Amino acid sequence: MKIAVAGTGYVGLVAGVCFAEKGHDVTCVDVDADKVKMMEAGITPIYEEGLEELMRKNNAAGRLHYTTDYQAAYKGAEAIFIGVGTPEQPDGSANLSYIATVSRQIAESVEQDCLVVVKSTVPVGTNDKVEQFIRDFLVRDVKVEVASNPEFLAQGSAVHDTLHAARIIIGTESVEAEAVLRKIYEPFELPIVSVNRRSAEMIKYACNDFLALKISYMNDIANLCELVGADIDAVAEGMSYDARIGARFLNAGIGYGGSCFPKDTKALKYIAHQHGYTLRTVEAAVDVNAEQKTKLYQKASNRMITFQNLRTAVLGLAFKPGTDDLREAPSLDNIKLLLESGADIYAYDPIAAENFKKHFPEGSCGKGTIHYVDSAQEALKDAHICFVFTEWKEIQEIPASVFQDLMRIPLVYDGRNIFDVKTMKDAGIEYYSIGR
Ligand code: UDX
Repeated sequence: MKIAVAGTGYVGLVAGVCFAEKGHDVTCVDVDADKVKMMEAGITPIYEEGLEELMRKNNAAGRLHYTTDYQAAYKGAEAIFIGVGTPEQPDGSANLSYIATVSRQIAESVEQDCLVVVKSTVPVGTNDKVEQFIRDFLVRDVKVEVASNPEFLAQGSAVHDTLHAARIIIGTESVEAEAVLRKIYEPFELPIVSVNRRSAEMIKYACNDFLALKISYMNDIANLCELVGADIDAVAEGMSYDARIGARFLNAGIGYGGSCFPKDTKALKYIAHQHGYTLRTVEAAVDVNAEQKTKLYQKASNRMITFQNLRTAVLGLAFKPGTDDLREAPSLDNIKLLLESGADIYAYDPIAAENFKKHFPEGSCGKGTIHYVDSAQEALKDAHICFVFTEWKEIQEIPASVFQDLMRIPLVYDGRNIFDVKTMKDAGIEYYSIGR
């Protein structure tokens, strides 16, 4: 099928590449000409395992094209997927301006009947408005319908999550629209759940917010574990055998970050308020997460007289392993506080340091200083204190003896619970983590 995709971020580009991989003829549209050139050359603008390989394969097969010329891409497309961002606004609501821009461009470009499919996460009811908006601005006598097809991929495993999704959610208001989406997804051979548009929009928020709630719940329990002398790892293991709970998303730590959970919890809270309802569970998850992010810093502040000139090793900056994304990363909040307190930071992240420099450029910053180094060992050398913010595998694999050998004072604050408490203690390290 001839498909156009608007937006080449995590959602749009991964969808476009995977549709091409499944045999569709795909054109990805982006406003940035340099980005288009890069993608034509088989270079992905985002770091995502396996993506570049699939891009190159499908570029070469002639099934995957890129353009800034949206008119050319939209006019003959049978389906147009919208995968542009819906960033959070200061009041917590979703910014729909990118969706509106693309909708207008679609309305002015389409020359034949087509299905517009919204993949971006949007407030419930938005697809109704998008359909009306496109119809209002249509310049030709064609039939355009809008469907909802939320995306559940996680960064770092986006290609795998798309090709092997647990389910495809399609939200439509007509059998014709449903048929188009079923045809597009047929080659994926995945379970399809077909619902109405508003339910599809809600499923996305309900899933993300449930997972955020699960993490905040574990963090809440972890905080209590510390007070009552229980161990959150043991508690999580005990819980995980209950199939009704499941084994995943039980890791306590310094809270969730990323482009989805923080944004989607606040957006649903906002939507509820708009309807005169208070979503107390989700609000609690948001509050717990906000406090959890700096728990480690608070613990360290209670232990130290000052951070002034303290050589501080930081291991991991990304909001989670496998990505260079820093959106809502707890490292940002903690490093801000450390710098305000005068710390001399040596930070290491395998891939996110370049992005981090955009927030905190190398050198003096506030009362402190930040340096970016090329290895965990370099960060740890002569350090008085170490913070772990991201559970990269290579950081998890650092033997306890390395902290002991390299640090001036072997004092470690682990925000991701990646080291064994006893092993660290036996190696003579003063070790603090979350809920243990
Ligand atoms: C998430 C959803 O998983 C995905 O389905 C949705 O489409 C987008 O949002 P993503 O943000 O890429 O994906 O990452 P995810 O792996 O879900 O982790 C989100 C955050 O939760 C990270 O900061 C991670 O460190 C944290 N987390 C996750 C925990 O603190 N504990 C856990 O047990 C799991």
